Amino acid sequence: MKDATPQPIYLKDYVAPDYLIKTIDLVFELDDTRTQVYSTMKLIRQVDNTNTSLKLNGENLILKSIKIDGELLAEDRYEEEEEFLTLHHLPQEFTLEIHNEINPEENKALDGLYKSGNIFCSQNEPEGFRRITYYLDRPDVMAKFTTKIIGDKKLYPILLSNGNPIDSGDLEGGKHFVTWEDPFKKPAYLYALVAGDLGEVKDTYTTMSGREIDLRIYCDKGNEDKCGHAMLSLKNSMKWDEDTFGLEYDLDIYMIVAVDSFNMGAMENKGLNIFNSAYVLAKQDTASDNDYLGIEGVVGHEYFHNWTGNRITCRDWFQLTLKEGLTVYRDQEFSADMNQRTVKRIEDVAGLRGHQFVEDAGPTGHPIKPSSYIEMNNFYTATVYEKGSEVIRMIRTFLGKEGFRKGMDKYFELFDGQAVTTEDFLHAMSVANNNFDFTQFKNWYSQAGTPVLKIESSYHSEKQELTLKVSQSCPATPEADIKKPFHMPLGLGLLARDGQDIPLVLNGNHSQPQLEEGILHLTKKSEEFVFKNVNESPILSVNRGFMAPVKIEMEQSFANLAFIMANDNDEFNRFEAGQILAKETIKGFVETDKTEWSIDAIYLEAYGSLLSDETLDDSFKALCMEIPEESILHQMFDVIDFQKVHDAREFLLNTLSSKYEKAFIHLYESKKDEGEFKVDAPSIGRRSLKNTCLRRMSATQKDEILAICEQQFNNATNMTDEISALGNIIFDFPQKAATAVNKFYQKWKHETLVMQKWLGIQAAAADDSTYERVLELEKTDVYDKTVPNLFRSLWGAFSRNYVQFHHPTGRGYKLVADRVIELDKLNPQIASRIVGAYRDYKKLMPGQKTLMKTEIDRILGTKDLSKNTYEIISKIAGDQ
Ligand code: TRP
Ligand code: ZN
Repeated sequence: MKDATPQPIYLKDYVAPDYLIKTIDLVFELDDTRTQVYSTMKLIRQVDNTNTSLKLNGENLILKSIKIDGELLAEDRYEEEEEFLTLHHLPQEFTLEIHNEINPEENKALDGLYKSGNIFCSQNEPEGFRRITYYLDRPDVMAKFTTKIIGDKKLYPILLSNGNPIDSGDLEGGKHFVTWEDPFKKPAYLYALVAGDLGEVKDTYTTMSGREIDLRIYCDKGNEDKCGHAMLSLKNSMKWDEDTFGLEYDLDIYMIVAVDSFNMGAMENKGLNIFNSAYVLAKQDTASDNDYLGIEGVVGHEYFHNWTGNRITCRDWFQLTLKEGLTVYRDQEFSADMNQRTVKRIEDVAGLRGHQFVEDAGPTGHPIKPSSYIEMNNFYTATVYEKGSEVIRMIRTFLGKEGFRKGMDKYFELFDGQAVTTEDFLHAMSVANNNFDFTQFKNWYSQAGTPVLKIESSYHSEKQELTLKVSQSCPATPEADIKKPFHMPLGLGLLARDGQDIPLVLNGNHSQPQLEEGILHLTKKSEEFVFKNVNESPILSVNRGFMAPVKIEMEQSFANLAFIMANDNDEFNRFEAGQILAKETIKGFVETDKTEWSIDAIYLEAYGSLLSDETLDDSFKALCMEIPEESILHQMFDVIDFQKVHDAREFLLNTLSSKYEKAFIHLYESKKDEGEFKVDAPSIGRRSLKNTCLRRMSATQKDEILAICEQQFNNATNMTDEISALGNIIFDFPQKAATAVNKFYQKWKHETLVMQKWLGIQAAAADDSTYERVLELEKTDVYDKTVPNLFRSLWGAFSRNYVQFHHPTGRGYKLVADRVIELDKLNPQIASRIVGAYRDYKKLMPGQKTLMKTEIDRILGTKDLSKNTYEIISKIAGDQ
């Protein structure tokens, strides 16, 4: 840590800026270690007080000169501090010229201007621009940007920035320049610069009003043939936003640049998106179906930001979910429309439960709109993004398709070109929908924690009434102990024995505006609903479609769950019933002695019926065959025995695999099909079902199954089949995996994206040999700790390998702590992500706690620890 404890910034302290910047003209003279930056800004003071100083942000900059209205500024008119440059005695309106120097090559934090391989690129969200030049680096300061980039013509033939190119030419000494102008005013976080000797893929898109847009994807030379899916996804996104929201692209050119060293997925810089190459590059033999889907989702996400994020941006960073929650919602809907809706929903909910629910229940939990932060980068979280999207989805549920569209139209009508708040968004939604009342709904923005719905029902056969009692509670979270009740939709169905829905008719005066759609509005801590004309005792199907991001507590017999699994009209709940059966089974195991483990016959049979149900869509069936991930299972326990949860899950898988071996093999064979490779939903579904079957079979650990895996591995013509077979060999046959592991390395060592899979899958193996193996892997030539994808492949996967991370010797805790401390000096953003692995501390068994505490304290005590890592680890350390 720096000299003093880092201090938080609070939402309640927000004040509008004293100065605005109307325009900024930038000139860059590119150099690996000494890039010169010349900035000319037109500023206007917004307050009356002539003594108001101008406090510019600036970090890691070498100041060369300052001029005001053309005059060099005397030293007594400014002060330079570590993170600020303050100017005094300023006119009301003036031109400010600043010259400074930066060192892109040394910038391993990948924040500001840096080099990824031989490419200059930038990352400015949220606060990277201050590492390029002195500026009012906050999103409510929006300026018009122009950029002149000067660089060596051989090394950097391509020079890019936001907007349209307006000038270019050759210069002395083998240099050249290009000038870019962005006609839209924007905050500095959307600024971008790229320079390199890049491969280029071009296409065009004609918008709904007939304008032709130039589309370009830039990548490392040699990768041009891997850009097709990203380009197709871009065109599909553009069409989808026109069809769904009437939103058309607004510049004449749209560029995507793929780089290997990038802290996150991608960045929506105006007209010049910069992407982690993992979300651009794909070819049949190098990319799995998940990679293809990830590309589609992220390309869509960044494209959709052009309206939800760029045209309307955030007033301050506390509003992050304004653009992220909404844009995630939009990309989820896009992917649902392009593929299979229920399957997409199930996957999104699985992601929410596996990451966001865990975050929400731990020491780093926060509302989707946090009220304070130390380091903003720590708040690009599953909560702000994924729970934020669920909150938008609930609004969409309340308002309906048309109402939501009207609300979106109103949002753009009122706020286009502005930096606004989440209240502004709700205001637009409300006024476009007969002043829909969001007063109570706003609790979702200010309260953290996953609400729990306790549901009890009783059936009165004479009255033919069903009484439903719903109580909501929300656990204490770091920001508050006591919570106000939430307004939420609850999808509900009453299933008759023939599988049909019994119509919902309420007794008494309830204002339930969406009852006919099968939706109850919940608003109270506890409420009772009496349904009449219920002529048989029904089976309850609740939270259909997962309309609200909550946990359900309800007694449900295995027989009823099996019935729902086979018969519900809501596909999500058919999936869900199977998951509950699996969870309850595993919970039972963990609470008893291993010698007594056996699977309930009803569950076994339900699983069997699932396998033989030929009416189901392949990808849906594959998901229903899954057993919940360990991170979801852990949530059932106050104290987690990681090894036992793992063993219980394995036992369940092994039992299923031996009981249904024949059915799995049969299904596997029937889905083999060697036709033309396609990445459409039916083909992805077929591969998914096939590989899920192989995964299940593989749990038998029989030699003949290993042979099938090896055969698939050796003959695969696509990465989906190749990597799933390799995974099975590594996980289920660790003693016999070396040949396949080495073969894969030899085949793919020159493809870093494929090597990332290779590292990750080995680091995820629960086997005890994994510890030694990761130490070997980090010495291989394909590994480089300064490339976030590679660091994450190894250490992200290892820290989510619960058996190994929580190894009883404590060696897992120590190893990850060593790597975090080392990386924190280079890339604090990535270090602080990995250090989140320690957040289970409070739920550990006593012996484990002691071991982990030692490492938490060691990290916390590290000299010069970054703000990023400090904020996370201090919250974990404070969670006793
Ligand atoms: N706004 C980006 C998105 O959601 C994410 C982002 C924020 C980001 N900070 C970043 C990406 C830093 C890379 C690096 O699409
Ligand atoms: Zn985003």
